[in-house]
Amino acid sequence: MTNKARVAVLISGAGSNMAALLYAARADSCPYEVVLVTGDNPDAPGLILAEAEGVPVVRLPRPTRDSRALFFAELDSTLRDADVDLVALAGFMRILPVEFVAAWDGKLLNIHPSLLPKYRGLDTHARALAAGDAHGGCSVHWVSAEVDAGEILGQTQVAILPGDTAETLADRVRIAEHQLYPRILAEIAARPLDADWIEGQIDALARTLPEVARKTSHGAPGWSVGPEKTAKLFAILADRHHGEEAIGLLVKASGPDEMSGLIEARPDHYYWPKYYGASGWLGLKLNRRDVDWDEVMGWLTRSWTSAAPARLTKLIRAADEL
Ligand code: GRF
Repeated sequence: MTNKARVAVLISGAGSNMAALLYAARADSCPYEVVLVTGDNPDAPGLILAEAEGVPVVRLPRPTRDSRALFFAELDSTLRDADVDLVALAGFMRILPVEFVAAWDGKLLNIHPSLLPKYRGLDTHARALAAGDAHGGCSVHWVSAEVDAGEILGQTQVAILPGDTAETLADRVRIAEHQLYPRILAEIAARPLDADWIEGQIDALARTLPEVARKTSHGAPGWSVGPEKTAKLFAILADRHHGEEAIGLLVKASGPDEMSGLIEARPDHYYWPKYYGASGWLGLKLNRRDVDWDEVMGWLTRSWTSAAPARLTKLIRAADEL
């Protein structure tokens, strides 16, 4: 598989989850590759393993209370230098500053050894045992500013056995972690190139505009505005039409001059769609890992405005002027 997501793994200790992510990535069909292992502990045993497996390792100096800001600035530039698409926290024992989380929003995942939202923070297994739970488990979640509170992406339950201690339970939960994390990371890594996922993203954005409905265009999914009888298309999803490489969103541009200018300036982002181009549709290439969805929303709004009846565009203009 080509065009794999570039993943950095952040660790503080043993790095067994990092190893699980790394070995899963050895399969040709895995949609991600581990391009960097780093963390807050230059002596972490996991770094030695990563190096032995030929993965680039960066040893950052262990942060102190005074050097915390500097550490996260260095971490940020290390990740940028490695051109990573996703960052997997795997036993990384530092709370991330809010600015760091904001800068990497939508790219940071974590694995936590409990069935969230139960038992955020530490000592999760002891707390599950003390509560008399029938199951412990693990969760993979997006990282948000609040610790262990981001959207849950996947979980595995692990039965608690009579006589379990925090250690015996942790050992079995870790087996589940090693299965869960690579699977969820692979799902997330595959999303940006998946036509169904892209369609869902566009649908969610398009439906925030007034009087939008679904309408196909020569069998392709499309979005229209206005009452059913006079509904006009303003967006079409062209999934590799006519041998094109792009999963493209077709939107109305102002005309051929604007289209040629954009395509020349950013050929990775824009293209001239076969057949549709001649009638003023511009193609936005969306099967990329760095799509700016705010920009896509801008195009949807513009295209909607050019297709919507005047009574609707007047409303939007009035709202903009408020
Ligand atoms: C795992 O239990 C993980 O869920 C938690 O920290 C532990 C890391 O273990 N966040 P390892 O370093 O991956 O072996």
